[in-house]
Amino acid sequence: MPEPKHFITFRDLSLGELKAVLGRAAVLKDERARGAYRRDHLAGRSVVMFFSKNSTRTRVSFECAISELGGRAIVINMGDSQWTRGEPLSHTARVLSRYVSAVVIRHTKEAELAELARCSRIPVINALTDERHPCQVLGDLLTVAERLGGVEGIREQTVCWIGDGANMLNTWLEAAAVFGFALRFSCPPGYLPDGGIMSRAQAENPAVRHFGSPAEAARGATVVTTDVFASMGFENERERRLRDFRGYQVNAALMAGAAPGAVFLHCLPAHPGEEVTDEVIESPASAVWDEAENRLHVQKALLEYLVPAL
Ligand code: CP
Ligand code: NVA
Repeated sequence: MPEPKHFITFRDLSLGELKAVLGRAAVLKDERARGAYRRDHLAGRSVVMFFSKNSTRTRVSFECAISELGGRAIVINMGDSQWTRGEPLSHTARVLSRYVSAVVIRHTKEAELAELARCSRIPVINALTDERHPCQVLGDLLTVAERLGGVEGIREQTVCWIGDGANMLNTWLEAAAVFGFALRFSCPPGYLPDGGIMSRAQAENPAVRHFGSPAEAARGATVVTTDVFASMGFENERERRLRDFRGYQVNAALMAGAAPGAVFLHCLPAHPGEEVTDEVIESPASAVWDEAENRLHVQKALLEYLVPAL
């Protein structure tokens, strides 16, 4: 049996594979818009989804994706499973591989996804960890492609990130390394992204740069994006972060310094009035609703690609 392909980080797939998934997602989106929802790729098969953190978009979009591919989603609150009671992941992986066709996981510790993948005969898909959120950035890149010059145009873009150096920025850094687009990011002191991810991305792509000022980072950007100041699991730091992130809001003045026609993205959920103003979310520049929808299309394409046809 061939080794399964996983999607835990952008580096698990080649640039060609990622572009093919984005291209396929666009086709699936177009067909669905014309009423062709149903595909048979997962017919008769199941996908298990584990969550140890809250979710709205990821859970619903994956469930829809799996059912529209003809399969069945089994959704498990991780705390209800034997995973959190200490069953070895190598055992869990081998058992699940005998039931289902893929595992989708939202969890704090990415090392546990890697361990599961190591012992698994089926694809493991990262649905957000403390370190990364690759399905989200894949959906974001489809949105960029739709608005700004197609999949081949992604590498021509200048993406500006404002805010916390957490899972979303880590993933944008890897995406910039793989796709070759410019990434200008500005994080408050003490909130830089993962050092290893950042230095590798900067070594591979000299257009990945940190700026001390958000306005400078946004200058000339074709895409401006941000995320909440306190990610899931960091809510107890909220008051301190509200102080530390003063000046790191995406607002109309910041957008005015970006390139004409720049697109605003946010993975959502947002805290309007904190990391971004309502005015920007509701502005013509904002693509946040398409971005959320695109999670569905990229995840269908990803499942088709990772789960071998019968
Ligand atoms: N963007 C995203 O992953 O949303 P959820 O937390 O609602 O799944
Ligand atoms: N950075 C956010 C993303 C939510 C989709 C979090 O981890 O809470």
